[in-house]
Amino acid sequence: MNKVTIKTLGEMKQKGEKIACLTAYDAAFSRMLDKLNVDVLLVGDSLRMVLHGRETTLNVTMADMIYHTRLVKSACQRAMVIADMPFMSYATTARALGNASRLISEGGAEMVKIEGGYVVADIIRQLNNHGIPVCAHLGLIPQSIHKLGGYHVQGKDEQTANTIIRDAEILADAGAAMLVLECIPNLLAAEISSNVNIPVIGIGAGGQCDGQVLVLYDILGISNQQPRFSKDFLIDAHSIQGAIENYVAAVKSGEFPASSNQF
Ligand code: KIV
Repeated sequence: MNKVTIKTLGEMKQKGEKIACLTAYDAAFSRMLDKLNVDVLLVGDSLRMVLHGRETTLNVTMADMIYHTRLVKSACQRAMVIADMPFMSYATTARALGNASRLISEGGAEMVKIEGGYVVADIIRQLNNHGIPVCAHLGLIPQSIHKLGGYHVQGKDEQTANTIIRDAEILADAGAAMLVLECIPNLLAAEISSNVNIPVIGIGAGGQCDGQVLVLYDILGISNQQPRFSKDFLIDAHSIQGAIENYVAAVKSGEFPASSNQF
């Protein structure tokens, strides 16, 4: 068992070995995903919608995120655990440092994820300077849902595509350790993945990212709605374990995402 670290993920990008990530919110699934070689477990703030049944991620609390991160971390030995920082919990550098350090020290996260473009560059720099690796998140950023006006594909025109390209470079230069790209055209994601030297994980961002992440409950077909970029892996499997194994294999082989899952 080789523990997945930030170094492992960088090496996987260099070798062209795809990184398989899934969201995890509790110890039971964490143990299973870890055993089945999922490389990264993301304690996403999506838990507010998926698990708690709310309409958006906006009212998840630090207490929620620390609680679920602790559960996931307690049952996981190999995979890297990344925790989302809640909406507005990183609005200033002081808040970001205080809240990120709680996710690390109380929750056991090994990296934190924050949403947003160049405006969060300085926060990433400060967290990184204090020894906290950060995963940036661009494209469809659910914490900005009211600004975006809905869950739509981002970066479809030249101007918004260029903004995402520029933001990715700025955030990588600021010291981001990893980048999630959500719901953007696959050609745009491919360009960004080759431009930056940090691992790029896509969700609805095509097959040329360095890895893929999906919401666990989507791949098990138990979410309210199946997004086009996701897939129910339980349909063709005999068990939850089989579905997760098939997801990992499909990401590693490049079979997932298929063209029908891309924009
Ligand atoms: O909260 C979450 O689960 C996420 C992924 C969808 C990337 O941010």
